[in-house]
Amino acid sequence: MELKEAIYGRRSVRKYNGQPIKGEDIKEIIEAGLMAPNASNYQPWYFVAVANPEKLRELKEVMERTSEILTPSLTARFEKYPQVVAETKQFIRLLGNAPCCILAFLLKDDEEYKRKETEFVESVAAALENMLLTAYEKGISSCWMTGQMEAEMDGIIREKFAPGRGKMIAMVTLGYSDQQPKAPRRREGRYEIIL
Ligand SMILES: Cc1cc2nc3c(=O)[nH]c(=O)nc-3n(C[C@H](O)[C@H](O)[C@H](O)COP(=O)(O)O)c2cc1C
Repeated sequence: MELKEAIYGRRSVRKYNGQPIKGEDIKEIIEAGLMAPNASNYQPWYFVAVANPEKLRELKEVMERTSEILTPSLTARFEKYPQVVAETKQFIRLLGNAPCCILAFLLKDDEEYKRKETEFVESVAAALENMLLTAYEKGISSCWMTGQMEAEMDGIIREKFAPGRGKMIAMVTLGYSDQQPKAPRRREGRYEIIL
């Protein structure tokens, strides 16, 4: 697949058909993440891919609470669109029926990591985008999620899945799509080129 096709064709998918993803595909997706540019080559990330059904169920228990906590802010944000609120809540609760979810953390939780947090978060984000594009190339859809942080449930997720690691940065659902979302319109006026 051409890189351009992946960049323009990838969409956030919030509904999956439940078909499992092969372990070797998950490994390849994560390893593409590890090839990302990163601050001073610290490789300051730690990823946990959860594909075991029992562990996914445990994660969804936390996400069920996340969905409840986020209900007031979702309702306010999408006041005129109750359908969007219902669909978003459903996605958060059930992770869209994704067979795999990658949890992304900073590698460590120490003073240096606090000092360099911005650069390290940027590094993890670069790795995640590599993963999304690599997944897309394999016909696997994804959605980047940070709602668990807004709901302040990230500490619980870290304790359960990555004790002793650093701050949670995001999670990414992975699965075979059960929907064809359109690309949200990209807004004008977000860059300039100084020649
Ligand atoms: C940092 C970040 C956080 C996001 N958090 C969420 C989230 O919590 N829930 C969700 O459904 N989508 C989330 N998304 C996906 C965005 O909503 C999506 O990328 C955006 O609407 C553009 O759509 P596209 O990915 O299809 O181009 C997040 C994306 C990023 C980069």
